[in-house]
Amino acid sequence: MALLNENYLKLQAGYLFPEIARRVTQFCEANPDAAQRLIRCGIGDVTEPLPRAAVDAMHRAVEELAHRDTFRGYPPYEGYDFLREKIAQHDFRNRGMQIADDEIFISDGSKCDCGYILDILGDQNRVAITDPVYPVYVDTNVMAGHTGAATQDGRYEGIVYLPCTEQNKFVPEPPNESVDLVYLCFPNNPTGAVATRGQLSRWVEFAREHHALLLYDAAYESYIRDPEIPHSIFEIPGAHECAVEFRSFSKNGGFTGVRCGFTVMPKAVKGQTQDGRSLPLHPLWQRRWSTKANSVSYPVQRGAEALYTDDGKAQVRALIDHYMGNARILRDAAVGAGLKVFGGANAPYIWVKTPDGLTSWQMFDKMLHELNVVITPGSGFGAQGEGYFRISAFNSRENAEEVARRLQTLG
Ligand SMILES: Cc1ncc(COP(=O)(O)O)c(C=O)c1O
Repeated sequence: MALLNENYLKLQAGYLFPEIARRVTQFCEANPDAAQRLIRCGIGDVTEPLPRAAVDAMHRAVEELAHRDTFRGYPPYEGYDFLREKIAQHDFRNRGMQIADDEIFISDGSKCDCGYILDILGDQNRVAITDPVYPVYVDTNVMAGHTGAATQDGRYEGIVYLPCTEQNKFVPEPPNESVDLVYLCFPNNPTGAVATRGQLSRWVEFAREHHALLLYDAAYESYIRDPEIPHSIFEIPGAHECAVEFRSFSKNGGFTGVRCGFTVMPKAVKGQTQDGRSLPLHPLWQRRWSTKANSVSYPVQRGAEALYTDDGKAQVRALIDHYMGNARILRDAAVGAGLKVFGGANAPYIWVKTPDGLTSWQMFDKMLHELNVVITPGSGFGAQGEGYFRISAFNSRENAEEVARRLQTLG
């Protein structure tokens, strides 16, 4: 009989979103009237339609595939040059960062990249992960066998957790011990926190000193409003020798369903072999793509390219303005309801302290039963998330305003 990857059995049962879905379904079945007025501010999925520039570009690309002289088969493994060039130029070189076109690898989303990256990294790395956190970093390490068993508080043995608390404004300083891999995500999901240039510089300094690799998830960079906050780890001098960055078209272009993202893999980033040789990651990443995948479909890559046109940029800005308008409405309403609120200023997530010492799940049930609003319990993102909940600004304006009204009635 085929043997299983038993690391999967270590994963905690009842992953956050299935458990939310279970409670919501149960509530709706028991309360069909309340179910009619249910508003979901839980999962961080976009709600607004795709930018017209992307839609038109995808239509044109599909039409090209319908004709012999413009038909295309397999794309290049690393993505089409037309898209890699636009990304490197607009997102990096125009902003003063020296990133070459061939350091961009197109993928079907940054969630996937966060998992795939482990293919080219060793099994013995000491891994540091912020807490609370986007659960994918932890779970992919569990699946790859990089951790021990789960402990009582939902953590895993072997991971170095970096607590993100009110005291450190949800941005941890580097630890006092040496680690090999560090996952950082700014603007942060779930806390909505952003890291300053000084804070990121300390992480780059740490990585260089300890020969650590920073895995920097910038999926929400387009939500940054404060001009002083870096959009990319590569704005920090020295980062191109110790960092890999994950980016996504999901939350700027609304591509959560279309699927497209990319990794920035600088050629100067190196890892070590068991016998002490220092080798670049870039060729391994290239090899990973050419062996295991065939990139992303041509129409999707054309759609992503269109986000860099003048029209595309304006439409993306309008989408982000829409969600950030929601964030302001929800933030103000939560403050008005007497809640202690974080985030929501440079990120589409509002991180709220539960009142009266309620646990995250008690607050989830209260919001569901009293306001018929679905939020995400903070404890689902890690032990340090206990006592908080996340409100997502991904919604229609009408829903955001209605949630704001209901928050004023919170008992
Ligand atoms: C921090 C973070 N990274 C990555 C992703 C996934 O992005 P994608 O849709 O590109 O896979 C998400 C999605 O919610 C996220 O919150």
